[in-house]
Amino acid sequence: DMSPEEIAFQGRIDRNEKIEPKEWMPEGYRKTLIRQIGQHAHSEIVGQLPEGNWITRAPTLERKQILLAKVQDEAGHGLYLYCAAETLGVSRDELLERLHSGDMKYSSIFNYPTLTWADMGAVGWLVDGAAIMNQVPLQRTSYGPYSRAMIRICKEESFHQRQGYAIMMKMANGTPAQKKMAQDALNRLWYPSLMMFGPSDKDSVHSAQSMAWKIKMNTNDELRQKFVDQTVPQAEYLGLTVPDPDLKWNEEKGGYDFSEPDWDEFYQVLKGNGPCNKERLGARVKAWEDGAWYRDAMVAHAKKKASRRPV
Ligand code: 3HC
Repeated sequence: DMSPEEIAFQGRIDRNEKIEPKEWMPEGYRKTLIRQIGQHAHSEIVGQLPEGNWITRAPTLERKQILLAKVQDEAGHGLYLYCAAETLGVSRDELLERLHSGDMKYSSIFNYPTLTWADMGAVGWLVDGAAIMNQVPLQRTSYGPYSRAMIRICKEESFHQRQGYAIMMKMANGTPAQKKMAQDALNRLWYPSLMMFGPSDKDSVHSAQSMAWKIKMNTNDELRQKFVDQTVPQAEYLGLTVPDPDLKWNEEKGGYDFSEPDWDEFYQVLKGNGPCNKERLGARVKAWEDGAWYRDAMVAHAKKKASRRPV
């Protein structure tokens, strides 16, 4: 029951052609991209908050500079992704309004608190590690502007992941108290990181269509498995213990068996009931309201300039 246009479009996708902004696309394709790219952009912006929390308390000037640069990178990723979404005919104002009203989501992970300096290590190592696992395949996604944004973003994300792991190495090889902080950060952030990949495949509503359109390149469970397989040896190298008593190498599948996160908790966080949802969204809404005078001034200035233009 596909129209001739839809059949031709699917043919282009199947031949790995990139779809560009002004070209014909099914409405569902456009909508799915706006949802995914928009949520991704929101995640980058809201994702600045848990780390911003530690900029003023970084243990050394060097650590402060690195963290500041990293948080600025996230802002850049967000703006870059909003631009990619705008090529689909949605304005940035509308996307922000939909974030602020709670209509659009951002990644569940950013609704967890960052309690100690070791969390800066664990966020870089696990959260950015999970983000890259998802974003590297998205470099091949079918929509041109999204795919090109991912190429640049992945380069910076991999630096973020390494800086996080470097903090973990320092902490895990430090004093017993530092090692304990590192273990505690891993304990708290392990399952929330696994949740970043989305619900298990049987509960993922969008995966089948998004993969047919190559908006998504892998299923949620495929990427979660790859993340666990990559991360467990890194935890072992740190001398830390992944907080999963059922974690076990499975020779036959060539990967680890592991416990699923608590999906009830995941859906609660999605509904706005996670530990920091209100604080995070509140901070974004406040930033938007506090910036109103500046936006008004820019508009007034632009109008004045336009009215002065010689006729
Ligand atoms: N947090 C919040 N919502 C989530 C979620 C998560 N971890 N995982 C899934 N969901 C939501 C989906 O958005 C969807 O809800 P919706 O219909 O209201 O949009 C619902 O749960 C069902 O899940 P699906 O598996 O059907 O949804 P998707 O096909 O969209 O898959 C995804 C989810 C894998 C996250 C996919 O959207 C994706 O690959 N997105 C791009 C990557 C991204 O957004 N990353 C953000 C996290 S990290 C980051 O960018 C910051 C970093 O730099 C620190």
